[in-house]
Amino acid sequence: MEKKVNIDWDNLGFSYMKTDLRFVSIWEDGKWDDGKLVEDNKITISEASTALHYGQQCFEGLKAYRTKDGSIQLFRPDQNAKRMINSCKKLLMPEFPVDKFIQACIDVVKANEHFVPPYGTGGTLYMRPYMIGIGDNLGVKPAPKYLFSIFVVPVGEYFKGGVTPVNFDITDADRAAPHGTGASKVGGNYAASMQPHKESAERGYADCIYLDPATHTKIEEVGSANFFGITHEDEFVTPVSPSILPSITKYSLMHIAKEMLGLKVVERDVLVEKMDEFKEAGACGTAAVITPIGGIDYKGELHVFYSETEVGPITKKLYDTLCGIQFGDIEAPEGWIVKVE
Ligand code: PLP
Ligand code: COI
Repeated sequence: MEKKVNIDWDNLGFSYMKTDLRFVSIWEDGKWDDGKLVEDNKITISEASTALHYGQQCFEGLKAYRTKDGSIQLFRPDQNAKRMINSCKKLLMPEFPVDKFIQACIDVVKANEHFVPPYGTGGTLYMRPYMIGIGDNLGVKPAPKYLFSIFVVPVGEYFKGGVTPVNFDITDADRAAPHGTGASKVGGNYAASMQPHKESAERGYADCIYLDPATHTKIEEVGSANFFGITHEDEFVTPVSPSILPSITKYSLMHIAKEMLGLKVVERDVLVEKMDEFKEAGACGTAAVITPIGGIDYKGELHVFYSETEVGPITKKLYDTLCGIQFGDIEAPEGWIVKVE
């Protein structure tokens, strides 16, 4: 019989809680071991680990969803596995194979299935795969040993309010350099985002929007999410840049917009001075899902898109279709869903 846990499913935020088991695998002497599930949520590593001093680490974020019939499914885990391989290549870390990554996700979710929130609560089981350079090392060079792990946490909303709009402001700070690590999911980008985020939150905004680091004229990221806008001609537009994290949610929305909603989809520069070309705008990501952007404060003036209080109709259709697919109510494009069985 399935184990019960005492969790208020309707009021989950986005915070850590220890669950039962996590997956852990070690790379040494040129290969990964078989990996195993462990109960302990602590890791003991050398004080000279590259992850601690030189930021040699990367991570992923994906979710497990409970469907109406009570089964559990993952959304495009192969894409997270591939993106993690790209992050590893960037930081000279060993690749964790796609098939092993997907199997490890399935194993961890199964081992913690009583933490997957019930269908209808909006909650999901967030999976956090990560890799860190460990072992004795002093110079700036790749580690001799690596740890790959996946833990899971039940989560609710990332931005408070669900599919109700929130406001953002534009920061002068950069989360990544023009030819740096912006397209990789590495901790350094997030360390660089903490101060700008804090400043925006203190000004009353949900998060900050980053402009392109080279010219500061184009919209890139919305905090920890990608940007999209809907033009007055009903085009789905999203920025393209080598310093944006390629969002799996964003690429999924591009497919949904084109193939299921019949919109024109364009990846191109989005000039911050031309925000009025959009009648709706949103932030998208695994944690953010789709968070409608009410308005953007640029140079002290709030530019409102559809409304500060209501989601626009196209953003709502995108949201309903994406969530419908993720929770198993709408048939998914081929290969998007992996059942946890
Ligand atoms: N941009 C940044 C900086 C992120 O941290 C994330 C979260 O993963 C995203 C965008 C959204 O990516 P995804 O849709 O793959 O979660
Ligand atoms: C995600 O959407 O998975 C993220 O990684 C966002 C944030 C929690 C870092």
